[in-house]
Formats: sequence, structure tokens, C-alpha cells
Amino acid sequence: MFTVITGAQFGDEGKGKIVDMMASQYDIVARFQGGDNAGHTVVAEGKTYKLHLIPSGVLFDARLLIGPGTVMNPKILMEEIAMLAENGVEVTPQKLGIDAKTSIIMPYHIALDSLRESRRTVKIGTTNRGIGFAYVDKVGRDEIQMSDIAEKNRLIKRLEEIAPQKEAAIKELGGDPGVARSGIEEYLEIGKKLKPYITDVSKEINQALKSGKKVLAEGAQGTHLDIIHGTQKFVTSSSTVAGSACSGLGVGPTKVDRVIGVIKAYITRVGEGPLPTEQKNEVGEHLRDMGGEFGTTTGRPRRCGWFDVPLARKSINLNGYSSMALTKLDVLTGLDPLKLCLEYSLKGKVIDYPPELSDELAGCEPVYLDLPGWNEDISDARDFSDLPDNARLYIELVEELIGMEIEYVSVGPGRVQTFVK
Ligand code: IMP
Repeated sequence: MFTVITGAQFGDEGKGKIVDMMASQYDIVARFQGGDNAGHTVVAEGKTYKLHLIPSGVLFDARLLIGPGTVMNPKILMEEIAMLAENGVEVTPQKLGIDAKTSIIMPYHIALDSLRESRRTVKIGTTNRGIGFAYVDKVGRDEIQMSDIAEKNRLIKRLEEIAPQKEAAIKELGGDPGVARSGIEEYLEIGKKLKPYITDVSKEINQALKSGKKVLAEGAQGTHLDIIHGTQKFVTSSSTVAGSACSGLGVGPTKVDRVIGVIKAYITRVGEGPLPTEQKNEVGEHLRDMGGEFGTTTGRPRRCGWFDVPLARKSINLNGYSSMALTKLDVLTGLDPLKLCLEYSLKGKVIDYPPELSDELAGCEPVYLDLPGWNEDISDARDFSDLPDNARLYIELVEELIGMEIEYVSVGPGRVQTFVK
């Protein structure tokens, strides 16, 4: 069984929590794109774990894999391994495998990311983790791979080839060209430690699937941040939709059994770019405060708004979801009325599907349906029938409008606060 989970909005939908909930039923949990720009918060047995690279299933017996479609900062990985060890979770090579071809985020990628962003007249609001420039090098065939940092000679040879162009690029942007050759000893040290973790992710997953094992592919960021189908240029540099799990892990599309979309009961976005239902008022503040909507990676306050049905419709198309998980329903408690964005008005026309271009999306005025809210604390709900009438109505209306059933509902950050509808 091969299941893919992706975020249906702009990231931070609560994927980590859903993966964590499902992981006990899977033999392998794999990351297929992105890097430490992602932030997954997993709360288990009273402890909160903030992870950026290690797949969210880490607290179960599952084998964890980092696929070659990702970009990996080895320093961050080592920090996470150390943090987990301090909490009694050992991440051994039996537990974690990293593909030999995984692109490495070098210090010069991070320098270029911040230099370039500081020069942009229209900012993207990147996480400053070097993600975009690591992917530029992958596509430009100038990447350093996991296997390179594990062998001194390979890394030195590769850097001799690459460093001059990095020096020139950094210099042109007004930075310190010395960064192009910095941190090498530290990377080699880490490479030595990570060598036993190196594997062939595609081979492992295909073998596992052939022998009847269950594999869960965990997406990072969200659908509308996809490099191809998202709200360019305000996107991340990888493909975040479900199809990317196949290319990023080396598994054919015929092997996919389930595709689960994680969607919040409202919407958030970090960084720049269009967000038609954004609420820059007390509603937005309620959602941010009650939902703890601050970036796991950057700590930035997230922009918050009402649930956007047209954007959800597009996500369903882009991912081909077979089911969905609606998260953070409890955050809506106390808001009255609640609003659902049914469609948009754009240049005098009403449309029920997002326009293809970002600047057109930025010009869309939401058309809302008002719904009655609820004041009861729903964080103890463990079944659909435990919810107040208006919360049930909200979910049923969302289902009707997006044309899909919600399979899971979550009402709080804890493991027990998610139930099957
Ligand atoms: P980058 O991925 O650091 O290049 O940032 C590009 C855009 O994606 C920025 O708007 C970021 O805020 C956004 N972004 C990247 N990763 C995440 C994430 O995990 N959650 C939400 N937004 C993200």
C-alpha cells in the first residue's frame, strides 16, 4: 500500500499531526520534496517535537526515508538527531535512510538565498534556508549530493568545479565570496557520521511495496506553493503536489493507492503572495492566537483568513485526493458568524475556480456565505456526534462545496484529538 499525504493550502495545514497519527500503521514514512523550510510540529505524550527534515513518523517503529527529490541541510539534520536523542528517541541508520543522490544545501546556498531576497524589489518572503538555490543547482546540474559529503575526495573535486561560479555569484550580489568554500571541514565531519545512513530510496520502497509493506509519503509545504502549479512567484522551489511523491521517491504512479489532502478549517499563508480571504482584523487575530499561527521554521506570524472553497477545488484537481483531513476545527470556536468563501468576483464576473495567474488571484474579491458559529469547547470531541450542531453543519457544507468527503477531523494538537468522521 502506497499512500501520499500533501497539504491542500499554503502549508502548515497540520500534515505532521496526520502523518504521526497514521504512521503506526505504516512500515516506511518518506519525505519526497522540500527541505528544512518545512516545519512539522508533533505533540506526543505531553512533549512537543519541532521537526524540519526528519519525517513525522519518527516516534513510531516505521523506517524513515529522505528521498532524492529533497534538499537537505546536514547541519539541521544532525541537530534534529541530537534533539531526538536527548528525548530518548534514537535515530540510527536502521531507523533513517538518506538517498545517496539527495541534494545538499551548502552554506553558499543560504548566503545566495538571503542576498537575492534582499535585492528583490518585490519580495517572496523565503525562509532563508537556501532552498531555492539548492534546487537551482540540482536543475543546473551543479549540485553537491549526499554521497559527495561522505567522501572527502569527491567533495573536494566537486567543489573545485563549482566554487568559482559561486564566488562570482555571491560577489555580484555584494556578499562575501569566502562563503563559497566555507564550512567544508564541518560538512565532511557530518558526512562521515551520515555515511551509514546512505541508501537507495527508490529501491527500498519498491522492494517494500512488492513484499506487501505499507509506505507513507509525507509532503511538505502546500499545494499552492508548488513550483509549477502554485501562485508564482510566491511559491517554494519544489513540486508539492501528490504526483511529486512518485518522481521524488522513484515510485511509479500505478503504485499509488491513496492520496490524502490535509486542509485547515480556515486558511493561512506565510510570506508574500495572494490570499483572497485574508482577514487583517480581529478575525485574523483570533485565528492566529487560537491556532498558534506562527511559523515553525521562522517564527513569523502567519496571515490568516476564512476557508477558501475555490482554492480547495483546485487542490483537489492538482492532487487527485481520495480523501481529506480537516484540521484545527477547534480554532473556529467563538467566531460568529463564520464565513465560507464560495466563489470570487473578478472584474465584474463571478467565478467558482481560481484564475490561473497570481496577479488575477490577487484581484479576486471573495463572495462569502455566513454561517452560525458555536461557543462550546470542542477539543474533547472524539466522534462527529460529539460536535455541536453548527460545527457539524460547517463540515457538511464544506464537504458539499468541495465535492469530497472529509475522512478525518482534528480538534486540537494532541494525538487523541483526531477522529474518523
Ligand atoms: P522557500 O521555500 O524558503 O524558498 O520560501 C518560499 C515561500 O514558501 C515563502 O513564502 C515561504 O514562506 C513559503 N514556505 C516555505 N516552506 C513553508 C512551509 O513549510 N510552510 C509554509 N510556507 C512555507
